[in-house]
Amino acid sequence: MKVVLASCAALPEGDGDEDALVAALRRDGVGVTWRPWGEPVDADLVVLRATWDYTEKLDEFLAWCDSVPALANPPRVVRWNTDKAYLVELAARGVPVVPTAVVEPGEDPVFPAGEFVVKPAIGAGSRGAGRFTDHAEARKHLEALGVKALVQPYQSSVDANGETALVFFAGEYSHSFHKGPMLAQGLAESESGLYLEERLRGIEPARRQVELAERVLDVAAELLSLRRADFLYARVDVVEGEDGEPLLLELELTEPTLGFKHTGDEAAARLSTAIRALASRS
Ligand SMILES: Nc1ncnc2c1ncn2[C@@H]1O[C@H](COP(=O)(O)OP(=O)(O)O)[C@@H](O)[C@H]1O
Ligand SMILES: [Mg+2]
Repeated sequence: MKVVLASCAALPEGDGDEDALVAALRRDGVGVTWRPWGEPVDADLVVLRATWDYTEKLDEFLAWCDSVPALANPPRVVRWNTDKAYLVELAARGVPVVPTAVVEPGEDPVFPAGEFVVKPAIGAGSRGAGRFTDHAEARKHLEALGVKALVQPYQSSVDANGETALVFFAGEYSHSFHKGPMLAQGLAESESGLYLEERLRGIEPARRQVELAERVLDVAAELLSLRRADFLYARVDVVEGEDGEPLLLELELTEPTLGFKHTGDEAAARLSTAIRALASRS
């Protein structure tokens, strides 16, 4: 069985978080190799893992996704998930989501009162995300981005509590980790050019966080006419709203960091099992 983990040219073997997964797959007898996305691949299954530079060449990336023999998550999931406007669709179906307005280029938005975030709708690694109170500065940032963007009230709980990332494999809850706040006032600067350096640690989620994450996956699956189990991997990032209830910040079905460095080897073993099951069906 041949499985390819897809990465990007700048980090052809990812950032090390996936080492435990590679080890688990090898232990389970899978021939696993890394390949930067964009190249032709020959494999039973291609798993998107560290493709962090697709945001500036999304069309090319999606065309490559369509071209590979079998992709996890599937191309139409990726097509839907790479545009954060999916948050508005989930909210319309009753999912508690951080209030989100989509702003097309050239549009003049109504900014929320107080602090708010402006970030590209197609974005990853916190690149292009900024935190503002000044409307003129925010407008300047929108113009500089020049692409479809999201405007959200800044969730102040993030300063104290960060966000919780809940990871699922084949629709089953696996583990969680905590991410510290990413945005200082103004515009975020990335050292790697690919992502802002993140501070992660393993965490035990609250039951209502797990319940929200499961609901998010069920509604997303329904929107895509899939079953929750059809998502090989999913990461649901939640923050605490003003009333203390969890809100969805991001549903990552494309290339989420899965936090293997911050959990035991069982998490990697679980994903290996799910990959083998999927590759044998592909
Ligand atoms: N509305 C918000 N309130 C508070 N923090 C936010 C908000 N939106 C984004 N952030 C911060 O910016 C980071 C990146 O934003 P996110 O929506 O997760 O995009 P991505 O991770 O895809 O770049 C988050 O991890 C969080 O720390
Ligand atoms: Mg995020």
